[in-house]
Amino acid sequence: MYSFRPVVPEDQALICRHRVEMFRASGRDEAILAEMDGPFGEWLRPRLASGAYFGWLGMIGSGEVVAGLGMMVIDWPPHPSHPTQSARGYILNVFVEPEQRGRGLARALMDLAMEEARRRGLDHMILHATPMGRPLYEVLGWTQTSEMGLSLRDGG
Ligand SMILES: CC(C)(COP(=O)(O)OP(=O)(O)OC[C@H]1O[C@@H](n2cnc3c(N)ncnc32)[C@H](O)[C@@H]1OP(=O)(O)O)[C@@H](O)C(=O)NCCC(=O)NCCS
Repeated sequence: MYSFRPVVPEDQALICRHRVEMFRASGRDEAILAEMDGPFGEWLRPRLASGAYFGWLGMIGSGEVVAGLGMMVIDWPPHPSHPTQSARGYILNVFVEPEQRGRGLARALMDLAMEEARRRGLDHMILHATPMGRPLYEVLGWTQTSEMGLSLRDGG
């Protein structure tokens, strides 16, 4: 019923929309999402072109894209979770259109990401979960980490 393909540079606008929709679904402030959209697009373009940002899209039979997931390999100092590696796999922009949820699309995209992570020999993966995403990742065996955050941005 669904098919999947890797993202290509022409998917730029679609990935930008998925990112905004993902944060919108968790109730993030619309003004901040509007502020983020342009800078995210500028950040994404060269990384999508170079392959530093990669990922997959899920499509229904007509070819319409209804889901997406992005991935990066990010520089990270060796850590007890990956003592011999100076990188982590990072999953981002996981989004499924509302009418297609609950049908295994996110699970299938995560399977593709894990397959790629293993192919690249990565020892450790991270992501930041929205409240809606947390049950998905828990079902897939992900656990909460010790990360904390502090905003230094005015009004942030
Ligand atoms: C979170 C989201 C990506 C899940 O996509 P989905 O295609 O509906 O998820 P799947 O159907 O593949 O679910 C896979 C498993 O996770 C569980 N799951 C997924 N979302 C869940 C939820 N909100 N509550 C409870 N369980 C959930 C399912 O029960 C399923 O388990 P099963 O296969 O054993 O039945 C989707 O709801 C979404 O796009 N939300 C808005 C954006 C967002 O928050 N993205 C996450 C960013 S971190």
